[in-house]
Amino acid sequence: MTKAATTTEVQVITGVLPTTQRVAPMLSLSELSVHYGGIAALRGISLSIEVGEMVCVIGANGAGKSSLLRAIAGLVTPSAGHIAHRGVPVLMLPSFERARRGISLVPEGRGVFPRLSVQENIAIGGYARSDGAVKDDIDRIYALMPRLAERRSQLAGTLSGGEQQMLAIGRAMVSRPDLLLLDEPSMGLAPMMVQKIFEIIAEVARQGVTILLVEQNARLALRTASRAWVLEGGQISVSGPSAALAADPRVRAAYLGE
Ligand SMILES: Nc1ncnc2c1ncn2[C@@H]1O[C@H](COP(=O)(O)OP(=O)(O)O)[C@@H](O)[C@H]1O
Ligand SMILES: [Mg+2]
Repeated sequence: MTKAATTTEVQVITGVLPTTQRVAPMLSLSELSVHYGGIAALRGISLSIEVGEMVCVIGANGAGKSSLLRAIAGLVTPSAGHIAHRGVPVLMLPSFERARRGISLVPEGRGVFPRLSVQENIAIGGYARSDGAVKDDIDRIYALMPRLAERRSQLAGTLSGGEQQMLAIGRAMVSRPDLLLLDEPSMGLAPMMVQKIFEIIAEVARQGVTILLVEQNARLALRTASRAWVLEGGQISVSGPSAALAADPRVRAAYLGE
């Protein structure tokens, strides 16, 4: 009797598990708005990114792409809306706390420290860590980008644009993020170097990091990401699987030059 009851209980509990164990999205934004004084840069953005996805936001200059990433990273304060990372509201957390939780931004224009060496720039990315494994992480980054390893003592300001982009990615990766935000990594780079940078981003994604990429280079972004949103004047105008967007006449005319 007791055994039968126990079996039934176990079955009931097992039946409940799939819902209680459902994984929260890596990131969810709800009605997010950003204003700079009277200028609305983002107006009511809602989107959700699952764990392990690689997605992109495309849009023209001034569409609000950087404002979106800066709001997620905690570098600008939204005027309205909600941001949750793995189901946890983060809007009240300062940017360093969001970084510690796994949100890492590779900013537009790279933002490397020109008078510090490659190695010093990467080490700065690990400042929030206290577990003593930073050296292992730096080695892991050099394995991902051997070009940085060869230049570890070189001043960052003397690197090429592409190498500086690698360094910015390396600095963001040393904190072992689970969500990497990339702001126009292709900007200003020669096609060969753009190719190289995107191979590195794809490898980071393969290692399990969720990636949100923003790009003016829509062709490249749609080829790399599985889903995409088009940002226009601070609002999402079109969204869906990248292949569907690449075939959408509006997207083709406005962003793919066809
Ligand atoms: N610090 C700022 N102060 C005032 N306006 C800003 C600031 N940053 C961005 N903006 C404005 O917000 C809008 C969106 O900018 P941004 O997010 O940088 O777009 P994108 O990255 O897509 O080019 C633009 O109109 C821009 O001029
Ligand atoms: Mg920008």
